[in-house]
Amino acid sequence: MVLTDGVVRLRAWEPEDAPAVWAACQDALIIRFLPVPQPYTETVARKYVAARALDWASEDERSFAITDAAIGEVLGSIARHRRAEHRAEFGYWLAPNARGRGVATRALRLLVDWSLETSSLIRLELYTHPENDASGRVAERAGFSREGVRRAWDLDRNGNPEDDVFYVLVRGDPRPTI
Ligand SMILES: CC(C)(COP(=O)(O)OP(=O)(O)OC[C@H]1O[C@@H](n2cnc3c(N)ncnc32)[C@H](O)[C@@H]1OP(=O)(O)O)[C@@H](O)C(=O)NCCC(=O)NCCS
Repeated sequence: MVLTDGVVRLRAWEPEDAPAVWAACQDALIIRFLPVPQPYTETVARKYVAARALDWASEDERSFAITDAAIGEVLGSIARHRRAEHRAEFGYWLAPNARGRGVATRALRLLVDWSLETSSLIRLELYTHPENDASGRVAERAGFSREGVRRAWDLDRNGNPEDDVFYVLVRGDPRPTI
């Protein structure tokens, strides 16, 4: 499955993507805001790419490499995880050099549009660390609304409870025009 708006292209992960995943996941922001393994070795990256490719065998997981539609460079990752019959959760990251130009917003819009068109999902949700303003802005630009804070929703790497901010889009909600 390929989704594109002419600027970004979402496609299934391929084994050759592992070095780009490894390089991106050395980034301090990804390590801070996502529960990626530490240290993030090349073996971890190869396993990630292989596991994400297998997601397509399940109805519940849809994972894509975010790539540059013009030159094919891997820019990041986006996924949809089904959590219930009507509910799915979204997650994403970008390589540091792909940030600040709307790539994540484009990728999330593409995946949300496709999800609404091709599934019966009703509630689309994502959550972020309370200090992850960039991710919250991506969610709002893609049509999600801030729902509230769930206290102690996650544990950090040291096992300490961490609050998370939830963003939600319910089927039928007005969507911002691009
Ligand atoms: C979260 C993350 C993906 C956001 O990346 P980002 O580059 O800010 O998001 P986008 O690609 O949508 O780019 C938006 C930025 O580009 C700017 N921009 C430039 N051209 C744009 C365009 N055509 N459309 C939209 N935004 C544009 C926006 O103004 C915005 O900057 P601002 O938020 O300072 O206003 C990134 O910070 C990241 O990978 N973080 C680490 C992992 C992480 O936290 N993941 C999310 C966990 S919940």
